[in-house]
Amino acid sequence: MSDLDLSQPREWIAQAAGIAILTGAGISAESGVPTFRGAGGLWNDYRAEDLATPEAFTRDPKLVWQWYNWRRELIAKAEPNPAHHALVQLEIRKRIFTLITQNVDGLHDRAGNGKILKLHGDIWRLRCMQCGANWPDRRVPLPKLPPHCQCGGIARPNVVWFGEPLPDGMMKEAEHASESAQVFLVIGTSANVYPAASLIPYARQSGAKVIEINTEETPYSNAVDCALRGPAGEILPKLV
Ligand code: OAD
Repeated sequence: MSDLDLSQPREWIAQAAGIAILTGAGISAESGVPTFRGAGGLWNDYRAEDLATPEAFTRDPKLVWQWYNWRRELIAKAEPNPAHHALVQLEIRKRIFTLITQNVDGLHDRAGNGKILKLHGDIWRLRCMQCGANWPDRRVPLPKLPPHCQCGGIARPNVVWFGEPLPDGMMKEAEHASESAQVFLVIGTSANVYPAASLIPYARQSGAKVIEINTEETPYSNAVDCALRGPAGEILPKLV
């Protein structure tokens, strides 16, 4: 990691008027939030089918909520790390800036970014299964599982589960940001989950220089302009 040559990607970033960024769970790993795949990943110990699908919630809302409640407890203790902070600096500097994240942890908001597209929703918001109302709730732990809406309906976490569409219009906005950017940063995602991962080739085909930052190789490492292997919290502050 210490002998990574950052001069070329640093120059691309410095010269770009517009930047789009795709982040995944790896950017929060150094804050102590577990990733989903790879070493220590949640999907090694839990089955997504049991916890992160609409069918799982219909079958056992309390079980699903216990898992989300536990994750909310972990995230509540976490602080944004130098990688999150570096992206705030980038937003301050760049006229055209979009942060597209698959993370539901809210650490980009806490760090201070403003222009965020949360492709997979937000663990700190709840949504009523009955009337569709959607509201913030940061209580940790939640006093009663599953939580309920004022209308009496059961509330779910306002996140995207497997098999569900992304929030209305958000992928279009993400694509627009990706095709308008001269630099597309891909940080801490295994690039396994679609449609989010499709933004990587989309940005490159649209002419952006694509820079990947990841501790491990991903399916796109050989199809980007620059793949930087190492922890985002160490590399990003040196890049921006
Ligand atoms: P993953 O857990 O699949 O991937 C995390 C990536 O971060 C891996 O490629 C790691 O190598 C990398 N990584 C770990 N620590 C890092 C560090 N310190 N610096 C840089 N990279 C690091 O997470 P996502 O790609 O975000 O969706 O997963 C995508 C979606 O799958 C999630 O949003 C979630 C999950 O199931 C839903 O729940 C719908």
